[in-house]
Amino acid sequence: MALAQLIDGRLIAARLRKELSEKVEKIKKRGRAPSLAVILAGEDPSSMIYVRNKEKYSKEVGIEASLYRLPVQTGERALLDLIGELNESPDVDGILVQLPLPPHINAQKIIEKIDPRKDVDGLTPWNQGCLMGRREGMVPCTPLGCMELIKSTGVSLEGKTAVVVGRSLLVGSPMAQLLLKENCTVIQAHSKTKDLFSYTRQADILVVAAGRPGLVSGEGVKEGAIVIDVGINRREDGHLCGDVVFEEALQKAAFITPVPGGVGPMTIAMLLRNTVKASAFFLPQSSDLIKLEEES
Ligand code: GUN
Repeated sequence: MALAQLIDGRLIAARLRKELSEKVEKIKKRGRAPSLAVILAGEDPSSMIYVRNKEKYSKEVGIEASLYRLPVQTGERALLDLIGELNESPDVDGILVQLPLPPHINAQKIIEKIDPRKDVDGLTPWNQGCLMGRREGMVPCTPLGCMELIKSTGVSLEGKTAVVVGRSLLVGSPMAQLLLKENCTVIQAHSKTKDLFSYTRQADILVVAAGRPGLVSGEGVKEGAIVIDVGINRREDGHLCGDVVFEEALQKAAFITPVPGGVGPMTIAMLLRNTVKASAFFLPQSSDLIKLEEES
């Protein structure tokens, strides 16, 4: 069988950002730019890179990004107060608290403080409920990005078997919901699943978000599958690799995402899209534009 076709996340994300920048330009002309507040507590090196990229690409599309850098010893009270202020601020449309938070902070309590309309990560119980209940709400960025990549293949999803490896609230669980919504038959595997490959080998669509380098080898991939690798792991030699053994899966899949350059750029593009969507709650001019586009 021929090698899988690469799904180029960088290219698709760049196209989406271009579309977004045109939308942002129109919103700006009628008032102010959509705005995003990013909170980073501590100095986790990966988080610092992610946050820098979020700022960089916000700027690229014309979204106003403000970074709130807090020392690692910041207490829960200070963080809750900051979110309270950002919730109230008429100049802020989206709030993102970069995870993980330092261990002395109860992340759930912090997330729950975010106004669900400003919750661009889709992590508040309200937005989780909207996804589960098939209602309009904010959906976490990485699964949204994965879905765009899957759809870019042009393969019809209805009735296909989709296997998600991972059950995090940020990726695995919302991903399973999105695939269900597309009428896939969904199997959700996780770290306690026995005989993982007996499930992954059934997958027409395989999304691996386990955070374990090389977890899925070629043996675990069905011929002709769409493989979406969410893992971003740093190897000993400093290079990044995914949760899938890329060279092996390439021999069996029909479509596959590389790491880096697959899911990563899409997560940020979806964050920007969610920020523009959030701005519709607070900027009437943004809401009109989005409605007009939906009607056309
Ligand atoms: N840490 C790693 N990925 C993410 C993400 O998508 N959102 C937030 N808030 N933190 C993260």
